[in-house]
Amino acid sequence: SHPRVCVIGSINMDLVTTTKKLPKKGETILGERFETYPGGKGANQAVTSARLGADVSMIGAIGNDTFGKTLLQHFKSECISEKGIKIIPDISTGVAAITVLDNDNRIIVSPGANSKLTPKLIDEAQDIILANDIILLQLEIPIETVQYTVDFAYKHKIPVILNPAPFQIIPEDILKKVTYLTPNEIEFLSISEMSLAESIKEKMIITKGEHGVKFISKSGEAISIPGYKVNVKDTTGAGDTFNGALATELARTGELEQAIVFANAAAALSVEKFGAQGGIPDRKEIIAFIRKNEEELR
Ligand code: RIB
Ligand code: NA
Repeated sequence: SHPRVCVIGSINMDLVTTTKKLPKKGETILGERFETYPGGKGANQAVTSARLGADVSMIGAIGNDTFGKTLLQHFKSECISEKGIKIIPDISTGVAAITVLDNDNRIIVSPGANSKLTPKLIDEAQDIILANDIILLQLEIPIETVQYTVDFAYKHKIPVILNPAPFQIIPEDILKKVTYLTPNEIEFLSISEMSLAESIKEKMIITKGEHGVKFISKSGEAISIPGYKVNVKDTTGAGDTFNGALATELARTGELEQAIVFANAAAALSVEKFGAQGGIPDRKEIIAFIRKNEEELR
């Protein structure tokens, strides 16, 4: 049977401008091109899990507007169950203003309806959530909702991966109860400054972009998985692809290192196309990519 992944998180429309340089204060410049893409850390992770063959339930909130309608349709086309997505009146669907420069991106998120994903909506979605093998969370929804979900999952013994992005102060109780934490290097530094850092180091899986991934094995050994050299077009959402793939493979096999190797390859492939979801590969492509790279090493 398929692994079952529940993603509880943000749904955005990404408004992406590609440019060679950034305007200075008060300056207007001409960019290169503009595109809208489905995005939001939650939605990107859900799409990854679905493309890798998981049965995915998305829990989130959108506005009663054009972007919301387009995104709801998009979930259907990616075979993601949208029963847990609430349409909230009088607020806009989440939007991300993204500027893509060579090898770099800058993002301003206007959360809109994502800020209305309350603990009450999590309660209403209990039955949907309980039918899953693993839960994926990020920090683009209210922190009380993250706390509420982590408590709920802990009580029902469902494993949780928390991707602490974009970073904000996280109550220690959340960090103690989640199964895995997937910070990037900057988020990792912030968590390292917390007093409980040492006690949770075994659940940290640190993503380092082109430099790969670092984590601690069951036997307490620090392991580095190297990154891949790829043709970078757009790094937006690479972390999300990592998380969606990690959750799917953990639910499928329970093998941490193998799941990390797989997720690392998925994230590398994702940056070769434009759009947060544009380059998300399927399982076959990932397996072929890992093989090809192993052969080149021989
Ligand atoms: O992680 C990338 C995502 O961050 C984008 O899709 C954007 O919507 C923001 O949420
Ligand atoms: Na991409």
